Amino acid sequence: MIEHPFLEALAALWARFVLALCTFGVTLLISANSLFAKVRMSHDNGYVLRGRLRIAADARVPGHDFFEQGRSFACRVRHGAASYKDDAKLVVRSASIKFADRRGRSPLDILMNTGRMPLFWNARTFMQFMRRSIQGKGKHYVPYLQQHPQAAIGGGDSVRRDPDTPHRLVYRTQTTSGFIGRDKVLRHVRYRLVPEPFDGIESGMPDDWDRHHAWLQNPLPDETRGRNYLKDAVRAAVEAGQVMRYKLQIQLRLPPPDETVQPEWIASSVPWDETIFPWLDLAELELDEMLSHKESMLTWFDLRHHPASLPIPKARSIDDAHSLNHLRLAGIWATRARLLSYALTGVPKPYPDSRQARDWLGVPPMAKPP
Ligand code: HEM
Repeated sequence: MIEHPFLEALAALWARFVLALCTFGVTLLISANSLFAKVRMSHDNGYVLRGRLRIAADARVPGHDFFEQGRSFACRVRHGAASYKDDAKLVVRSASIKFADRRGRSPLDILMNTGRMPLFWNARTFMQFMRRSIQGKGKHYVPYLQQHPQAAIGGGDSVRRDPDTPHRLVYRTQTTSGFIGRDKVLRHVRYRLVPEPFDGIESGMPDDWDRHHAWLQNPLPDETRGRNYLKDAVRAAVEAGQVMRYKLQIQLRLPPPDETVQPEWIASSVPWDETIFPWLDLAELELDEMLSHKESMLTWFDLRHHPASLPIPKARSIDDAHSLNHLRLAGIWATRARLLSYALTGVPKPYPDSRQARDWLGVPPMAKPP
């Protein structure tokens, strides 16, 4: 333990330098991948719905200038899957809300995944996870999961297999960010998106085997659904007049009295006790139009899209819980690289339906993909 103030300052400076270096390295790698492979680094498989969002906050949510009661926005929601180009794989599913009906700029973007906690909880674990992804996913994840049992729990908790609809899943930010109400008090906050109505049972929940083998993500050998079954189902539902309604909810928590010490509950790996920090209604969404493939590809989300009163706390090291969001903020370069690749050589075509197509990846390889 370093106690001399000068050494402490030096150690803090070094920690920030390492974070900057790692951020540069990760950003360079993922941007090169997005540019040359023409993909989102994550969640490439997805589609966008359009609709409206109205602030309808529970009385217990402190007054907030941005979340003014009754305020309404045109909005977009992109449902995606991380990763693989196949709706029927055992994967993490997502919902990203843009508080504007635009491809890019918006007053607020909120990015959420299924599950209560992710497979990584700071820049250090994210880099370890990324290394395994680059090696080829699947069995390459096993040493990482053995080294970090928490990651195995997060993986099993987050994946969904063959949901009938995105509208029976719950999506959470998992990471924490800031909320400064009209009372000027900074609170920590998490968001989640819940279908309305919802009976509490998510579709596609992993069974015991999947939960404990979340790295075996191939479709089942007797799978009957095609690679794009979920997109097709959503398009059919919306065209038949179904309106997908959701509630955006919020969990709030005051910082500890000693702000120099970061509490462990800031980390994305530590969900908050819902009986003490209840989910409070914040907004209602209704989505009734599915956008074209091209429009969906050109819609992008960015954590930098937020008002000053909903800050993203700064990270101080690669072990800091906020370092995940620190990396994600720099991830805008990967988005730019992807959009540049589209501008140069066109938007990639929709995925073919067949698993025999060359772009379909079986990990581990499947001799006869269903
Ligand atoms: C708990 C942590 C995380 C969550 C909940 C999360 C969530 C998401 C979601 C929902 C998307 C899809 C957005 C869309 O539909 O376009 C996404 C994409 C992406 N994420 Fe993350 N993510 C996390 C961590 C990270 C980290 C650590 C990085 C590191 C740089 C990262 C970089 C990216 C990138 C580059 C994209 C694709 C951007 C694009 O090309 O448009 N994410 N993430």
